[in-house]
Amino acid sequence: MTAQNPRKILVTSALPYANGSIHMGHMLEYIQTDIWVRFQKARGNECYYVCADDAHGTAIMLRAEKEGISPEEQIARVKAEHETDFADFQVAFDNFHSTHSEENRHFSSEIYKACRDKGHINVRKIKQLYDPVKELFLADRYIKGECPKCGAADQYGDNCEVCGATYTPAELKNPFSTISGATPVEKESEHYFFKLPDFQQFLKEWTRSGTLQDEVANKLQEWLDSGLQEWDISRDAPYFGFEIPDAPGKYFYVWLDAPIGYMASFKNLCDQRGDIDFDEFWKKDSTAELYHFIGKDIINFHALFWPSMLSAAEYRTPTAVNAHGFVTVNGAKMSKSRGTFIKARTYLNHLNPTYLRYYFAAKLGSSVDDFDLNLEDFVMRVNADLVNKLVNIASRTGNFIAKASGELSANCVEQAMVQEFIDAGDLIAEHYEKREFSRAMKDIMALADRANEYIQEKAPWAMNKEEGRQQEVQEVCSVAINLFRQLVTYLSPVLPEIAEKTKEFLNLESLDWEARRNILLSHKINKFKPMLARAEMDKVTAILEETKAELEKETGKPADGKKDEKPAAKKDEKKAKNKGPELREDGNEVIAETIEFPDFAKVDLRIARIVKADHVEGADKLLQLTLDIGNGETRNVFSGIKSAYNPQDLEGKLTVMVANLAPRKMKFGMSEGMVLAAGPGGEDIFLLEPHDGAQPGMRVM
Ligand code: MSP
Ligand code: ZN
Repeated sequence: MTAQNPRKILVTSALPYANGSIHMGHMLEYIQTDIWVRFQKARGNECYYVCADDAHGTAIMLRAEKEGISPEEQIARVKAEHETDFADFQVAFDNFHSTHSEENRHFSSEIYKACRDKGHINVRKIKQLYDPVKELFLADRYIKGECPKCGAADQYGDNCEVCGATYTPAELKNPFSTISGATPVEKESEHYFFKLPDFQQFLKEWTRSGTLQDEVANKLQEWLDSGLQEWDISRDAPYFGFEIPDAPGKYFYVWLDAPIGYMASFKNLCDQRGDIDFDEFWKKDSTAELYHFIGKDIINFHALFWPSMLSAAEYRTPTAVNAHGFVTVNGAKMSKSRGTFIKARTYLNHLNPTYLRYYFAAKLGSSVDDFDLNLEDFVMRVNADLVNKLVNIASRTGNFIAKASGELSANCVEQAMVQEFIDAGDLIAEHYEKREFSRAMKDIMALADRANEYIQEKAPWAMNKEEGRQQEVQEVCSVAINLFRQLVTYLSPVLPEIAEKTKEFLNLESLDWEARRNILLSHKINKFKPMLARAEMDKVTAILEETKAELEKETGKPADGKKDEKPAAKKDEKKAKNKGPELREDGNEVIAETIEFPDFAKVDLRIARIVKADHVEGADKLLQLTLDIGNGETRNVFSGIKSAYNPQDLEGKLTVMVANLAPRKMKFGMSEGMVLAAGPGGEDIFLLEPHDGAQPGMRVM
């Protein structure tokens, strides 16, 4: 790369659905992409970063209906929310558009027509289950019933979570629509298919041409070898989307126009700016680069359908599709009840986005491995690296420069070391380019360690107390400030806010990669102001609490405004009862309101014997229980059952406890689990009491 010959690069992140809030999982992707884009820009490349809301589909239509607003209103609300979330995390799109836009309608029909005219579209009738009450065709995830094999109730339309059988929705016994509760009927209709098998050969080559991570290419190889299926790209009305040009009443499936949304957003940017040539980036033989950053769950859409459609319509195909893994929190899938399904906004209510940007960078590589956000490690790591190592360099030396009339020394007394820091930038840049951010951060922090060792060894604060060593103090601190400037240059894609503050502190116009090459001599700087406070664990706790409180609000709230309309309310009740998890348009789960069997299996329910029960000094509702859970293990549990039981009546009784609940510190001590009881409260609380044959320690299944 040379500054004279900048690369032209277009970068995208996946388009978030317009029916939900941005959460930590999303943020991994947008921060990863933003870092890479900022790096490209800092290197002097002509780089654009576009995104949009993914606004179409049944889920969004139903969500708007539930809120009592039009889909247009729904997507406008969510777009405004998404945009502020991103801006507040310093994710700097060049454009954030919507798939429900004129540009997208234009490109979607154009690409579809091109595919059709080349014979890649097939039309045939298929039978599907249909909701006769709601009058819409039901995707598999909106159908439940009894397993045809084992008879288990409340199973989804494709597989049984109890016995593991797989089947088609039509085979379910007593099926019902999760939308209206009605019994679905089979109905035939015409569907449009994209003939993916036509692209078998093209895809075999394309997926092996350096466009994909090896692990991803290998996975796709399996699919390619087992033969490709035609892809159903149409949906019948009612559907929120674009009508297919030559097929009234038929709509493009959301995943047909979603990736085209990348083009549409870029076109919208070109039209706003007037100085970017759309065709230069999208024409067939374009030399510009095109990168999609996505999560591993949507690889097939980006690495099979999308390149095939583009090549059919004679557009360029992506330079690379970069997939990342899924975010887990404290080693487990994000969960609403644990408070770890953290929304971007909830995080921002308590913590500085700089911390999260750094932590993601510090642990992120180029693989599709999942990413664990370990909250304790997170707090420790950002404090250790950013506060103690990085900012410390400036805060320990900046004031001595202020005393030396605010000017760095005229000569550099550690030329070689500063030069090494400058040279290290080339390798760090390679790491960034390959999306090996954790390697970049490791190298940068190793340099920060050296800078701190240098300052420690020279101890300018001690020197400063000695007569006649003022010049030396200035020289040493000038070296430190020069090192700090190199470090912030390298961190600026990750920490844009620290970079801004540093520019102001050091009186610099640019912290771009090239600008780092000159050593700052006789250069005026400004007074050092604190740059970053320490991250506090209690803020993290507050985030988890707020997340849990939100869940309570959501689930504890009755369906409002419909109380007096009896029939409607009744229907609603049924709807609520039968409502399956909200699922993503492509069948993957977004937010689980109900839990899946593996979630249930995680709960360690055990028989316990109450060996001791006591009043708790100062607590009105609590009893302190000592539980024997077998194998000589005991647990201390505080339980709110005082209104119903005398402690002495409990001793010796068997009950059921949740044995793997994380211990919780309460005012009166640590509570190490929960006992199960039922009832409305007060005197009517009934501790679950298993049969006598049960023994402490037995697992409850
Ligand atoms: N609308 C589609 C994408 C269309 S792109 C043409 C979609 N939306 S999404 O809101 O469900 O997800 C947006 C991005 O966030 C996807 O790349 C997805 O993989 C990513 N993530 C969503 N949850 C995630 C985690 N828990 N962890 C990491 N990334 C995750 O898919
Ligand atoms: Zn079954």
